[in-house]
Amino acid sequence: SEADKGTYPHYMLKEIDDQPAVMRKLVQTYFNDAGEIDLDSDLLADLKAADRLYIIAAGTSYHAGLVGERLFERLAKIPTEAHVASEFAYNTPILSAKPFFIFLSQSGETADSREVLTNIGEAGYHSLTITNVQNSTLSREATYTMLLEAGPEIAVASTKAYTAQIAVEAIVAKALGEANGTDAASQFELANQLGLVANGIQALVDQKEVFEKIAQDNFVDQHDAFYIGRGIDYAVSLEASLKLKEITYIHSEGVAAGELKHGPIALIEAGTPVIGLITQSKTASLTRSNLAETAARGSHIMTIVSKSLANVHDDIILEDVDETLAPLLTIIPAQLISYYTSLLKGLDVDKPRNLAKSVTVQ
Ligand code: AGP
Repeated sequence: SEADKGTYPHYMLKEIDDQPAVMRKLVQTYFNDAGEIDLDSDLLADLKAADRLYIIAAGTSYHAGLVGERLFERLAKIPTEAHVASEFAYNTPILSAKPFFIFLSQSGETADSREVLTNIGEAGYHSLTITNVQNSTLSREATYTMLLEAGPEIAVASTKAYTAQIAVEAIVAKALGEANGTDAASQFELANQLGLVANGIQALVDQKEVFEKIAQDNFVDQHDAFYIGRGIDYAVSLEASLKLKEITYIHSEGVAAGELKHGPIALIEAGTPVIGLITQSKTASLTRSNLAETAARGSHIMTIVSKSLANVHDDIILEDVDETLAPLLTIIPAQLISYYTSLLKGLDVDKPRNLAKSVTVQ
């Protein structure tokens, strides 16, 4: 079956490797032969009528929502806020006049997200659930559903659902932007870009020995590790850090690079890994300065950098894609470093302690 790990030692490794195919599947699913996006016309009308989007999710799906904020604001020019479901449910912000809700959930069963969906449904608001599981609770209870088409995700640590969620957000954002007549959306060659992304992911998963060596040399013996970045790279640093925590039990934080000097830099000790995510031309040199500040305190710095921003000292080079889609590549080295660190520590990669695949209690 599709949920079989075949010759792979772990589901997580298989699911990391599935990602190029998932990107291509999403292009096939959501673009027609003319290269246009096929979106439900009622969904598009509801999105067009909205004055603000609220993305609701938990964990990794919330991190995909943080990337979504940037995609919707850039491509569709609509104010967008991502919220942690368990916070939004009991500390609801003042809503805009015409809100529209997007629920991101791999399983479609997360109780924290369902609580929000129930509340906003009772208030009469419309919603879209983006999920991997057809007929899941969040899918049945939302006004609209779009599927991630990622195939079953079995490992507790989410990988391909994260990249699929970002890709589907980009598809919805482009469709809405085109409906709103934005140049940013009409000029964004998304189907072509997702093809470049698929190739870029493939190039990374084809170098597994590189990530295994980094895990062995720089992570297995560490107690703390930091991922840093700015803007969309900061959003990815949170997800990179969650992956490390979940399956290696190494304490890790994703830090907005500019915030280091306001506190977290106090934690740097000799050899502490600090990984800089550098994919945005506007902030690349600032993040490099922040990395150097940690190196001056003894950290072991590593960089994950887009090709066009790279130099000979960089460690991991990503193929160039549109800057707003860079997260689809930046996360891959972090997934693989976490995987190999967990493996080398002899831990249960697919079923880490204390965690459940889907969290059905609040
Ligand atoms: C991811 O690695 C986690 N195990 C977890 O944070 C997960 O993303 C979260 O529980 C949300 O799940 P969902 O996408 O199924 O709603």
